[in-house]
Amino acid sequence: MKVLAIETTCDETAAAVIESGPRVLSDVVFSQVVEHAPYGGVVPEIASRSHVEQLTAVIEDALDKSAQQPTDLDAVAVAYRPGLIGALLVGVTTAKALAWAWDLPLIGVHHLEAHLESAALAGEDTPPPYLGVVLSGGHTDMHRVDGEGRSRWLGGTRDDAIGEAFDKVSAVLGLGYPGGPAVEKAARTGNAAAVKLPRTLLSKDSLDFSFSGIKTAVLYTWRGLNATHQGRAPGAPDPEDICASFQEAVFDVLAEKIRRACRQESLDTVLLGGGVTANGALRQGLAQRLGNDIKLLFPPLKFATDNAAMIGALALRRLEKGEHDTLDLVAEAQP
Ligand code: KG4
Ligand code: ZN
Repeated sequence: MKVLAIETTCDETAAAVIESGPRVLSDVVFSQVVEHAPYGGVVPEIASRSHVEQLTAVIEDALDKSAQQPTDLDAVAVAYRPGLIGALLVGVTTAKALAWAWDLPLIGVHHLEAHLESAALAGEDTPPPYLGVVLSGGHTDMHRVDGEGRSRWLGGTRDDAIGEAFDKVSAVLGLGYPGGPAVEKAARTGNAAAVKLPRTLLSKDSLDFSFSGIKTAVLYTWRGLNATHQGRAPGAPDPEDICASFQEAVFDVLAEKIRRACRQESLDTVLLGGGVTANGALRQGLAQRLGNDIKLLFPPLKFATDNAAMIGALALRRLEKGEHDTLDLVAEAQP
């Protein structure tokens, strides 16, 4: 079976052709980063317009690179939730038009479930049950996964998402946008023990997260108490040390929450996905902290951030079971 998959939930315009296996035949991602960078974050209206401008070319490119014709396809898949509503509408409307024109079934895919599917693109299928952990720009969630479509939410962030915390720390320190890769790069030459930052673990058994405290602590460390200085306060630590210490604190919290969830649910396998899993220090840091008792599975690096291959991989599972949606599929901003 072969699927053309489309992803436009946020600021990446992506299309991929993928076949049962899963085997990625093509994977095209147009990043809008240059368009949003002057604003220090994703501007929803710019994202929608850019998707409109790029999507047709991105789809044509994905078909060309896969050497497939529309007549070779078995379905059109699209990420239909959650995300920016204007951005989602571009992908969903385009997918519906193609499915109708090519007389193919349409498959709507949940973007966050697809992030967990991206680990399968490493070629290893993980039999459930496992702990699914989504670490993205908009979400920080842990789920117990017992099988296809059978999962239970265990906990998530009460304020900022983990990726958002990276982005805000980067903005505070003036390291630019997107923040995650900038913080990771700066941290490489920093001392992780240099700055004392809080680890918010909440109550003893809580599986929830809170990243707003550490973000504020970074702000005060850099600009002085109550952020009285416009920029760097006199005597503030180096940005590299702040970044390394920030990552250390975030990894400590993440490892502790994963450990708690595994203990509570008697699980020993953890599947992670989402843009923040592109962070090499995070992969290493979690492995070090969780030891050999807990097996960690990450997506291949190129499929950690938003892409359409992961949308296609999840769609294939549904197609193979004979499931699909109708042209009434509606884009939804909420998870
Ligand atoms: O999954 P994703 O591409 O889009 C959403 O679904 O949100 O995640 C984007 C997030 C951003 O917050 C970005 O800063 C973060 O992932 N990110 C990283 C790294 N690369 C991307 N965070 C930390 N380290 C990275 N190397
Ligand atoms: Zn995402």
